[in-house]
Amino acid sequence: MSIYIDINGPRDLDGFHQNFESHQGHLQSHPQSQDNSHIWSVPSLGANMIKNLLATLAVTGLCLDNTAASPGRLRCRDVSDFVTKQSAVSIKGVLANIGSDGSKAQGAAAGVVVASPSRSDPDYWYTWTRDSALTFKVLVERFTAGDKTLQPKIQQYIAAQAKLQSISNPSDGPDSGGLGEPKFNVDLSAFTGPWGRPQRDGPPLRATALTIYANWLLANGGQTEATNTVWPVISKDLDYAVQYWNRTGFDLWEEVNGSSFFTIAATHRALVEGAALAKALGKDCPNCVATASQALCFAQTFWVDGYIDSNINVNDGRTGKDVNSIISSIHTFDPTAACTDSTFQPCSARALANHKAVVDSFRAIYGVNNGRTAGQAAAVGRYSEDVYYKGNPWYLATLAAAEQLYAAAYQWNKLGSITVNSVSLPFFKDLLPSIATGIFAKDSDTFKSIIKAVTTYADGFVAVVQQYTPSDGALAEQFDRNSGSPLSAVHLTWSYAAFVSAADRRAGILPASWGEPTSNTVPAVCSAAPSCDSTMTFNVKVATQYGENIFLTGSLSELKNWSPSDAIPLSANKYTPDSPVWSVDVKVPAATKFEYKYIKKTGSGSIVWLGDPNISGTSSTGCGSSGAFNDVWR
Ligand code: NOJ
Ligand code: NOJ
Repeated sequence: MSIYIDINGPRDLDGFHQNFESHQGHLQSHPQSQDNSHIWSVPSLGANMIKNLLATLAVTGLCLDNTAASPGRLRCRDVSDFVTKQSAVSIKGVLANIGSDGSKAQGAAAGVVVASPSRSDPDYWYTWTRDSALTFKVLVERFTAGDKTLQPKIQQYIAAQAKLQSISNPSDGPDSGGLGEPKFNVDLSAFTGPWGRPQRDGPPLRATALTIYANWLLANGGQTEATNTVWPVISKDLDYAVQYWNRTGFDLWEEVNGSSFFTIAATHRALVEGAALAKALGKDCPNCVATASQALCFAQTFWVDGYIDSNINVNDGRTGKDVNSIISSIHTFDPTAACTDSTFQPCSARALANHKAVVDSFRAIYGVNNGRTAGQAAAVGRYSEDVYYKGNPWYLATLAAAEQLYAAAYQWNKLGSITVNSVSLPFFKDLLPSIATGIFAKDSDTFKSIIKAVTTYADGFVAVVQQYTPSDGALAEQFDRNSGSPLSAVHLTWSYAAFVSAADRRAGILPASWGEPTSNTVPAVCSAAPSCDSTMTFNVKVATQYGENIFLTGSLSELKNWSPSDAIPLSANKYTPDSPVWSVDVKVPAATKFEYKYIKKTGSGSIVWLGDPNISGTSSTGCGSSGAFNDVWR
C-alpha cells in the first residue's frame, strides 16, 4: 500500500523530507515535471501508520487539505506563494489604516496610525504610540530599502508625533511623564478615559523608528531635516526613557503594572542608537550611554530558570512565559551582532531556549494546536493565562515566532558556525533529536541540517498563519483557539506590519545595525539605577507578646513581593503600652500605587497575617519625598 503526497516547490520538499525522516520510514520521490509538484510515495506501510503519518503532516501546517477527491493524498501548500501574496495584501492593509488618506482611516489626522478600523467590540479607533512606532519601523525599513514612495507618510507621522508629545494627558504634562500615555484619539487629542497607564515602551519604540530614518537622512544629504525636524522628537523620547525607564508601568498588553522585559529591551536599543545619532548630529544626549548600560544590566534579571520572565516586580500569578520576550528579541535583532546572550539576540542560546518555552506553553491549551507536538510549529498567543476574548492565538505572536528563527538563520550563516550548548540543546533536540552540544562549522552536515530544520520550523509558523487567514488575506488581531476563525479587532495594523516584517526577514531583507556589538557588555554590578523614590513610614498599632515580631510585605519588589519569609522587620522603638506602634521606613518608587499587609511572627515560628483585605496605598509624589501610613492590626 502507498500514499501520495503532492508538494509544491523544493523548499517545502526539504521540510517534508525531514518530517518524514523524523517520524517514520522511507520515502521515494517522483518529481512531476509538468506542474512543479512532487509526489512522495511511502511504500508498504500499514493502514494505521499511514493514518498517523497523514495526521502528523497535517499538523505541520504545511500540508492541509486531505482532498476527498483522492483519499490518502495530501496537497501541501507552498508557503512561498502565500508569503508573496500576503505581503502585498499586508502592505496595503497597513497603508489603509494610516490617515488621512488611508481607505480605512477616513477621519484620522495625517500620519496617524489607527490600530484597527473596528469601532466596537473592541473599539480600536485610536492611535497607540506602540502600534504606530512598530508599524513605522517597518515602513522606514522598507523606505531605506528602496520604496521611496513612503517618505511623505513618514514625514506626516513625525509631525503627528511632535504634536502628540506636546499635549497634556492623563499620564501628565509633556515634561512630566505625559510621553508615557499609551493611546490618543485619532484627531490627535488626548484620550481621557480610564486605561492601563503609563506604558513606558512607547517613547523608546518611537525613537527607534525615527532614528533609523534620521540615519538615512544623514547618509543621504538630509542633515537639515534630521536636525530640525526629526531630532527634536527623538530627543524628547530619549529624555523620557532616561528619566522613567526604571519605574514600573504597564506592559505592552496593557494589563500588568510592573517591569516589562519588552520595555527594558526597547529602552536599551533606543538609548544606544540615540546616543550615536546625537553624536553624529553634534547634539547632547544626557545620560543616554550610562542609562543604556544600566538597562542592559537590569534586563539580565528577567532571565530565570531557562526562559525570560516577561513581567517582574509584580505579583501577577503568571509563569512569565509571554511572547513579549520573542517580540523583544526580533525588535532588537542586529544583523552585525553575534549570538549574544546579554542582548537576547535571535540566535542566542537564551533566546532559543526562551522561544521553546514560550511556544511550548501554548501547545496544550489551544484546540488548534492539537497534535502539534514539540518541534512542530504551533499557534502562538500573548501568554497562556490570557483571558482577553477568552484567550486565543494572535497572528502577530505566531509571526514573531517565525521571525526570530529567520533572523537566527541569517546570523548563523553570517557568523559561519552554530554553537549548541546546554541552554539551547532542548530547542535543537526538538528539531534534530540526535543532536549533541558542540560547535558546527558552516561546511558541516550538522550546520546544514540545523539551518534547514530551523527554516522549515519558521515556515511552519507562517503556514499556521496561512491556515487561519481567510482567502482575501484580511488579518484580524486573533484567531479562535478552537475553530481558528478570525476574532477581535479586524484589519489590525500591527498584524499586517508583523507579517511584512517576518516576510522581509524570510527574504533576507535586513534592518540596519543599531550598534549592538559595542553595547552588549553587562556592567559587573548594576549600580543604583537612576530611579525616583520616596521614603514611606509604615506604622501599625499592634499589641504583641514577648517573642512576637511584626513584619511587612506587599506587591512591590521593595516590599519583597508578598514573600512572608523575606518580609521586612518592623522595629518596636516607638512601642509603649499605651501606644503599641511598630514601625519601619521603606524606600519605594514615588507616586506608585501598591498593596501590602503586616505579618506577626510568633516565638515558635508560626505566622499570622493581618486580616483581609490587603491595604492599598500610594507613595508620596516627588523624588526624595516622604510620607506615612498609620494602620491598626485587625
Ligand atoms: C484592552 C487591552 O488593549 C488589552 O490588551 C487587554 O487585554 C484588555 N483591555 C483587558 O484588560
Ligand atoms: C491590545 C494589545 O494588547 C496592545 O498591545 C495594543 O497596543 C492594542 N490592543 C491596540 O492594538
